[in-house]
Amino acid sequence: MAKKKTVKIKESIGLDIGSHSIKAVHLKKTGSGWKLLGQEIRQTMPAGIEYVPSDLSSNRFAPILAEMLKSMKINPKKVKHLVSSIGGDNVSIKQIKTIFLPEEELESALFFEAKKHIPISGGEMLLDYQVLNVEENTNNMNILLVATTKQMIQEHSDILTAVNLAPGIVDVEALAVANSFAFNSPIEEGIFIILNIGAHKTNMVIYSQKSKFFARDIGWGGYNFTKDIMESKDLEFEAAEKYKFEHGISKSGSNSTGTISMLDITEKTTEEQIALEVKRSLRFYVKDASSSDFRKILLVGGGAKLKGLREYINEQLSIPTEIFNPFVDLEMSSKQEGDPQFALALGLAMRPE
Ligand SMILES: Nc1ncnc2c1ncn2[C@@H]1O[C@H](COP(=O)(O)OP(=O)(O)OP(=O)(O)O)[C@@H](O)[C@H]1O
Ligand SMILES: [Mg+2]
Repeated sequence: MAKKKTVKIKESIGLDIGSHSIKAVHLKKTGSGWKLLGQEIRQTMPAGIEYVPSDLSSNRFAPILAEMLKSMKINPKKVKHLVSSIGGDNVSIKQIKTIFLPEEELESALFFEAKKHIPISGGEMLLDYQVLNVEENTNNMNILLVATTKQMIQEHSDILTAVNLAPGIVDVEALAVANSFAFNSPIEEGIFIILNIGAHKTNMVIYSQKSKFFARDIGWGGYNFTKDIMESKDLEFEAAEKYKFEHGISKSGSNSTGTISMLDITEKTTEEQIALEVKRSLRFYVKDASSSDFRKILLVGGGAKLKGLREYINEQLSIPTEIFNPFVDLEMSSKQEGDPQFALALGLAMRPE
């Protein structure tokens, strides 16, 4: 969703307003790449208190964002290049193929296509697209279609304007996830699977130089790991969170209590659900894109830090799995640290004009 600007970038801010925490990255352009000026993360709900995700109000973001900007010494009115993102149920992205169409016909044809391909409900649909390439032998066009609603964009802009930030480029989460990988890795052959494991969802992105782009959200994340621990260990939310940070999933599987109840047999753990959904999507992808050259699974987001998860995914999917550190090629001081939870914010900040 690019609102094109012509200013030359000197500094850039990437802002990932997640349902659990806001992540911000402040970069400065250098001759050869980027320098990290600052990074900040704040939780958007009081720590340790159990909540119902659907009860969370979007009013909670602006005061926290204002504090973050202050602490990062960023004057919102002077920010020239801001890139933020929208994601979730009412944002959809899909690669499609059409016959060659001239530009003036493309938009209306795509709007029609989008209604068929992209399930968006709750208000007026907004559409954006990018022509990826035109196939030489068939003259068919490969197009990346993005759809969302006016209401989504409005809610997002409201958070930014409440802290005196002028909305800049608003990107789609899945694209920023892909960019955080593409801008921070040498170009490699093959297909890569990136999982951005958040609090309430996991963005799954399949990215490669040559094969089809694929993105979907899997409805499980860090919050569900905590809920599993609450049940399997009979703990309160706060204690379960603490347990999760200390032990991860290594000791919290459904059979870990040693008793076999109905719940153990019928209910899948969060890691099982995520692995299952990834498997299903890969099966679909292999058929749809006629390619299965999967090289690596890269884990980012707060959930990537969950102990034992990398090993579990690796074993279940039989694809080499790594926690992706997007900070490797970034100029930074020895005090600053790379953190996979910032991957999306970094992908946003590095997006070209
Ligand atoms: N070291 C850690 N070990 C285990 N879990 C962690 C760790 N650090 C963060 N998390 C979990 O990661 C989640 C937050 O991740 P993230 O900031 O990527 O989510 P978000 O972007 O706010 O959420 P969403 O993308 O679902 O809107 C929380 O559930 C948190 O408990
Ligand atoms: Mg997130």
